[in-house]
Amino acid sequence: MFQVENLLRENIKKLTPYSSARDEFHGEAKIFLDANENSLGSPLTVWYNRYPDPLQWKLKESLSKIKAVPPENIFLGNGSDECIDILYRAFCEPGKDNVIINPPTYGMYEVSAHINDIEIRRARLLDDFQLDLVHLENLVDDRTKIIWICSPNNPSGNSLFREDIETVLNNFPGLVVVDEAYINFSRHKSFVQELKDYPNLVVLQTMSKAWGLAGLRLGMAFASEAIIDVYNKVKPPYNINQSTQQLALKAMEEVGQVNDMIRLIVAMREDLAKRLASLPLVKKIFPSDANFLLVKVVDAKAIYQYLIEKQIVVRDRSKVELCEGCLRITVGTENENNELITTLQSFSV
Ligand SMILES: Cc1ncc(COP(=O)(O)O)c(C=O)c1O
Repeated sequence: MFQVENLLRENIKKLTPYSSARDEFHGEAKIFLDANENSLGSPLTVWYNRYPDPLQWKLKESLSKIKAVPPENIFLGNGSDECIDILYRAFCEPGKDNVIINPPTYGMYEVSAHINDIEIRRARLLDDFQLDLVHLENLVDDRTKIIWICSPNNPSGNSLFREDIETVLNNFPGLVVVDEAYINFSRHKSFVQELKDYPNLVVLQTMSKAWGLAGLRLGMAFASEAIIDVYNKVKPPYNINQSTQQLALKAMEEVGQVNDMIRLIVAMREDLAKRLASLPLVKKIFPSDANFLLVKVVDAKAIYQYLIEKQIVVRDRSKVELCEGCLRITVGTENENNELITTLQSFSV
């Protein structure tokens, strides 16, 4: 049976976490002289002189209503990248353990593994960008701690088959992380409602994409309470700053506006795909459940350079396995998309 304790690093099992001044005191008080803050204020607004809530309860309660997940099953990170890094630091023994990724996929799973001296094993996606379950299974050994699954996947944009993800969840005894950074743009259902069925599941989401708040740095991990407790034990005491907490809380009052934006981006993605497909330099557009398109073109390097000269930056993915000859293009505003198309029309093939 899956037990978080069995997966944890020994040093984390034994760790006495940092206890902040506010962890020891709960409730209302008149005078706070416990945290060595500047009691006089700040050059900005009054509330920045105080440390923020270490566990961000208001934010989690608001998020809990939106996601229908109890606050105790939520961890908030300084971007999803912190949610990724903490899993390595808590569960993976440097120089000994390994994790599996399914390339082509989001780069930070690998970078974070290297930073933490964890071996990366690769089960390359199949030609249709779906999981290669046989290869995945063959790579697992008793030092495999995490399988990273990105759905919808970056850079291909497609969603992975739900049944395949369930097969991994049902058969792998370590952590299965489903990174749903782009889930709001997808036709498919999130895994956040499956936490009760899968004690080994971690779902990552972010405020950086659909919510339009990349600058605030707010990532979310949804998991069993046992896994969230590990996250809280290992995280820096005040990992989400006060202005991020306040602004994200305010943004969460505007779910309707965010949903309108998501619908618009999805419609613009479809429109952009059609217009790109009509260009002679475009060979193929891959189906996307995200806010970007992977586009195979006649000469990725030359087109990338040409766009740069016209001050339009896209992502050259042509050196990435299975993405040979491809550019990854984010859906922009209507004007930006128009300018992109007009510029590409003037490229001589
Ligand atoms: C799949 C995926 N996960 C996570 C992230 C990073 O999210 P955050 O901004 O929350 O660190 C990205 C950013 O591009 C991404 O593509």
